[in-house]
Amino acid sequence: MLTVAVLISGGGSNLRALLDAAAESDFPARVVVVGADREADGFVHAQEYGIPTFTVPWSRATSREGWGAELGAQLAVWNPDLVVLSGLMRLLPADLVDEWSPRIINTHPAYLPEFPGAHGVRDALAAGVERTGASVIVVDHGVDSGPILAQERVPILPGDDEHALHERIKPVERRLLIDVVRRIATGALVLPSPAQ
Ligand code: GRF
Repeated sequence: MLTVAVLISGGGSNLRALLDAAAESDFPARVVVVGADREADGFVHAQEYGIPTFTVPWSRATSREGWGAELGAQLAVWNPDLVVLSGLMRLLPADLVDEWSPRIINTHPAYLPEFPGAHGVRDALAAGVERTGASVIVVDHGVDSGPILAQERVPILPGDDEHALHERIKPVERRLLIDVVRRIATGALVLPSPAQ
């Protein structure tokens, strides 16, 4: 059974989907802990499943490295096989990435390498393109630049605003994430190491 730590910042709808999938008896992975950089609303999903949570508050951090070291110490307590960044809105320091990569993956609401960064949905709309997408990647030292594990296109519809488009992308992100975690757990997907 693959053990997974999930890191979030927000509502945790992708976390919820992963928890629901992991509750199925034939799913080959289970979430052992959920962490966040603040008191995230999404903790409610972990609590519902009786899964422990931890917070490493960004607001109290004096440096990215210090914050990352504290986060790394928390992860070491649980020692998961895989770390899933699911809406964690923070860049991880290089040391932490080096420690975990390629066993650390991220979901992104755009078809990478198109529209990396914190505003992938907004940037796709601003670019006036007809389609964007969702991606699951291995975390590397860059911003959403690691090896792509899965991705799928999502059309942009007339009248879409950022919220409407993001809400249509998220179900695709969830499906891709669950599938990637399942394939990692069964050995069908071997995580590629990012280029140094
Ligand atoms: C997802 O689209 C994620 O990729 C992005 O923020 C969203 C997280 O939403 N960075 P939620 O917290 O899972 O609802």
